[in-house]
Amino acid sequence: MTARLATIDRDRLAALIDRERAAYQAGFPRSRDAFAAAGNHLLGGVPMTWMRMWPGGFPLYHATAAGARLTDLDGHEFIDFCLGDTGAMAGHSPAPVQAAVSRRYGELGGATTMLPTPDAAWAAAELTRRFTVAHWSFTLTATDANRWAIRLARQLTGRPKIAVFSYCYHGSVDESFIVVTPDGPRSRVGNVGAPVDPRETTRVMEFNDPDALDRELAHGDVAAVLMEPALTNIGIVLPEPGYLDAVRELTRRHGTLLINDETHTFSAGPGGCTAAWGLEPDMVTIGKSIAGGIPAGAYGLTAELADRILADPAADIQDTGGVGGTLAGNALSAAAMRATLGEVLTGEAFDGMIAVATRFTAGVQSVLDRRGLPWSIVQLGARAEYRFCPEPPRTGGQSEAAADTELDEYLHLYMVNRGILMTPFHNMALMCPATTDADADAHTATFAAAADELLG
Ligand SMILES: Cc1ncc(COP(=O)(O)O)c(C=O)c1O
Repeated sequence: MTARLATIDRDRLAALIDRERAAYQAGFPRSRDAFAAAGNHLLGGVPMTWMRMWPGGFPLYHATAAGARLTDLDGHEFIDFCLGDTGAMAGHSPAPVQAAVSRRYGELGGATTMLPTPDAAWAAAELTRRFTVAHWSFTLTATDANRWAIRLARQLTGRPKIAVFSYCYHGSVDESFIVVTPDGPRSRVGNVGAPVDPRETTRVMEFNDPDALDRELAHGDVAAVLMEPALTNIGIVLPEPGYLDAVRELTRRHGTLLINDETHTFSAGPGGCTAAWGLEPDMVTIGKSIAGGIPAGAYGLTAELADRILADPAADIQDTGGVGGTLAGNALSAAAMRATLGEVLTGEAFDGMIAVATRFTAGVQSVLDRRGLPWSIVQLGARAEYRFCPEPPRTGGQSEAAADTELDEYLHLYMVNRGILMTPFHNMALMCPATTDADADAHTATFAAAADELLG
């Protein structure tokens, strides 16, 4: 271990970014041309505006994908650690999901009918086995799972607000775009067309600070704390020992419900952090990966809460009460969920994914240690992420302060130019059942080369 920490020469970094940008522009001509030809009818030139966040001036265009591999229009093959920012945590097009989807859509016929299929009940029972809460309802996205869980929490408690952690991300949930600042809470920068100032709907505090949570809940107006048991959208911020116990004790004491959003923390194991760490949430929300990339989300609640909401004459959860979606719970998503949970993202698969992530993390750590790079890496089961600060951050605010867009761009481009795809919004890597030790080692070698060029 090197005692002295290395410093980054910003001029060298700028020159390296220029070089990598030029290599990217030259290396992926078909993607570049497809982007240029996309015309004026896509907002921002992409199917969904987040796709503009890929560095290099244009996104790669996806041609084919299987398991942990993706190819672009030019025929380059990538080791995919992005995995659709968790949507493809089961790997791309795993065989059991392919079979279930083609059987449902082709052989049996009918993707969406407003009628149940037995697959949904199977998936709900499996989610209960994994995440403990007793009753489940389905959505198409994790965002909707969170939105509807929040509505139920308000109805159940008769309280108007929710509480979230600074720099959390729970999808495009209006209430969640709020951060802590020295001058008090404020709307997150760039919050698009907020329906109301989020201070009217939301209390916010830093993660790992039980006193702050106690203070906010003491107002007595918070229906639910919506949280990831570890933050994963501002680097990975792990809970300190005892913190999640304190969260549970405080929420109970203040009559506030606890919603675990396991959409990303599912990486911790087959039952996410809820099972891995023995948590006792009142509700669980999840999405992205549970149907092998076919749109599906879910929210679950305890038997006691389910009985209460079903018996509430003032809660219209069947028609136009603000909870539900025409395609939610559709037959195609349900078939894909059953195959994904039953045959792909199994306990055994998680054992393998976590072992590869452990190797990935150790590889990056050894690169950092040998070179004295002032960065850190944090692992959460099958996922790992590096951050540009010497110690892993303990709050969202600290992690945000460690953001470095130049280093992000350099590392992303360096990787993609050498066949490795990382998540564009952060330096996150996720393992799927098909990711191998050799894939993790390939990343370590490329990361070491990037670090060596940076340090000169
Ligand atoms: C923790 C968490 N919850 C919910 C969501 C929303 O997922 P989706 O965009 O698929 O609705 C995300 C998306 O990144 C997330 O990270």
